[in-house]
Amino acid sequence: MCGIFAYLNYQVPRTRKEIFETLVKGLQRLEYRGYDSAGVAVDGPNKTTQDLNNNSICLIKKKGKVKALDEEIYQKDTVDLDETLSTHFGLAHTRWATHGEPSALNSHPHRSDKNNEFVVIHNGIITNYKELKKYLINKGYEFESETDTEVIPKLIKYLYDNQENDSITFSKLVERVIQQLEGAFALVFKSRHYPGEAVSTRRGSPLLIGVRSEHEPPAEHIAVQYNSGHLREEIEEKNSHNSSNSNGEGKAVEYYFASDASAIIEHTNKVLYLEDDDIAVVKGGALSIHRLNRQAGDDPVRAIQTLQMEMQQIMKGNFEAFMQKEIFEQPESVVNTMRGRICFDTNKVILGGLKDHLKEIKRCRRLIMIGCGTSFHAAVATRQILEELTELPVMVELASDFLDRSTPVFRDDVCFFISQSGETADTLMALRYCKERGALTVGITNTVGSSICRETDCGVHINAGPEIGVASTKAYTSQFVSLIMFSLMLSEDRLSLQARRLSIINALKDLPELIRKVLSLDDKIKAIADELYQQRSLLVMGRGYNYATCLEGALKIKEITYMHSEGILAGELKHGPLALIDKDMPVIMILMRDGCYTKCQNALQQVTARSGRPIILCSQDDSEVIKNAYKTIELPETVDCLQGILSVIPLQLLSFHLAVLRGYDVDCPRNLAKSVTVE
Ligand code: AGP
Repeated sequence: MCGIFAYLNYQVPRTRKEIFETLVKGLQRLEYRGYDSAGVAVDGPNKTTQDLNNNSICLIKKKGKVKALDEEIYQKDTVDLDETLSTHFGLAHTRWATHGEPSALNSHPHRSDKNNEFVVIHNGIITNYKELKKYLINKGYEFESETDTEVIPKLIKYLYDNQENDSITFSKLVERVIQQLEGAFALVFKSRHYPGEAVSTRRGSPLLIGVRSEHEPPAEHIAVQYNSGHLREEIEEKNSHNSSNSNGEGKAVEYYFASDASAIIEHTNKVLYLEDDDIAVVKGGALSIHRLNRQAGDDPVRAIQTLQMEMQQIMKGNFEAFMQKEIFEQPESVVNTMRGRICFDTNKVILGGLKDHLKEIKRCRRLIMIGCGTSFHAAVATRQILEELTELPVMVELASDFLDRSTPVFRDDVCFFISQSGETADTLMALRYCKERGALTVGITNTVGSSICRETDCGVHINAGPEIGVASTKAYTSQFVSLIMFSLMLSEDRLSLQARRLSIINALKDLPELIRKVLSLDDKIKAIADELYQQRSLLVMGRGYNYATCLEGALKIKEITYMHSEGILAGELKHGPLALIDKDMPVIMILMRDGCYTKCQNALQQVTARSGRPIILCSQDDSEVIKNAYKTIELPETVDCLQGILSVIPLQLLSFHLAVLRGYDVDCPRNLAKSVTVE
């Protein structure tokens, strides 16, 4: 997905080379989101275009990796790299193609005209761009790319060219632009008419601003300025004389704008998350937030938060890939999910974010669990125990399908939105749909400050730590644990369920150790990958508590190895998939000593009777299964409803090794993005 990064240094001298380095580093931190081209915009007389005006803006864009852009910056002698600029605003962007092929021309920043009067970077989609483009073409504006984004710089120039008098402010222009836009966007604008000034805004796509000041700590809050009509100009007029409402006007300060915190954290841990339709302006070194009108329920201040994320948390360490690191982090990440929530002495489970809504949840008509991809699988994995412990009907829904069906939702429904990023467009739309219908909305997210986090009534932060690899691994097991904790909290006062609850709580205590044992099987799993990596297809079969592992394992395999893989419910075998089985078709079966043991053994017989050679994930020392298997991976046993956490890890590892052996980029699979912020 597109990544935004921008850097403003005010009264902090930086050479243009240092500015480029900061911009490129910011883009590198966002690479995990998935992209196909990149670009930057800086001030400076452009030697190659002979635009030698000091206010001119130079654009450098390149198809491919950030590394290629970086090389382009230094190879093409476009601007003076050694010049020191005490105040400067630079833009950077990674593009993930939606409208128009990956190319330098289609990549961002996009510009208003050949003189680069206004340039913009965008994450999201403008749904009414065709109408706007037609209008602007009629007015004589020429387009050079196939993107939806390009209407934005053209539109701002049109408004600038047609202003009533010559005093319109940059933020007023942006305010007028976004009134015309439909769809989702995070935008950062730069203009040669407003040197050193930054204007950014968002609707539906995330955007945050980091603040760094060597001399004094940034303000803790920024008051929102509600501006309508002439009142707006009055406020801005006042602000230019009095900085009391702003963040340190006139003082040396640096600002970092980004799609997520991973690009900012190495510079500052002080960040402000923009709300939909906020317009953030940095002028004369002062940050202010503007909105058109005040609505009932609006928070009139934006807090500058202190992020707890450590840089080392997002670095790869000694691992070959982020995905591998994240798989091996699971003994710690599940502990972080449980920390402060489960008391193993009293067997109490308290999810602070939900406790005030407990009564309402217990009284509800049903629980609806909504997510996409891996997050959906976390709902599938925990559905059975949720039904058992909450004694409520539980629906699990893929967000896109849930919306396509216009599923009936009622005021007494409780809807869970499960999302690692907290920004997935389909899940977010489903959340808004349920909210409109009056249901209680609960977020299960890994990203503090994300849209789902902010828009739900309550929720649980899964605390898995930043997940960089596109393939979700530790977030899945932490989502799993969070939903288990929810079922335990809800059943606390049910006497008949206490023995069951206790067995789960005890098993959760041992979980990190058992995960370590599974991870120690890595060499054995690698040996299986050595045997399988040239295959075209891989089936993963199981049922009951382990069905979700089949779906999730197959998703991991197809996502990063590009092999065909299917998760098959063993109960469905005779209804079609059995036709695929022969001696050449690789099959992985999950066959644990649980409630489905006998039924799974029947499936195993069906497979071996057709000369299938199953690789079986089974319970330790299960000689009955081992003797019928082609190969086995013996797993430690835990309580049935947690077994899926242990059985998914070998498949995470297997997909990782298969992808490496096939020579693919594990962390950035083709065509995929970490956070899917478009429908
Ligand atoms: C998982 O490996 C995938 N990258 C994908 O299915 C992901 O889980 C899905 O896009 C949902 O993302 P979210 O959890 O951030 O909402």
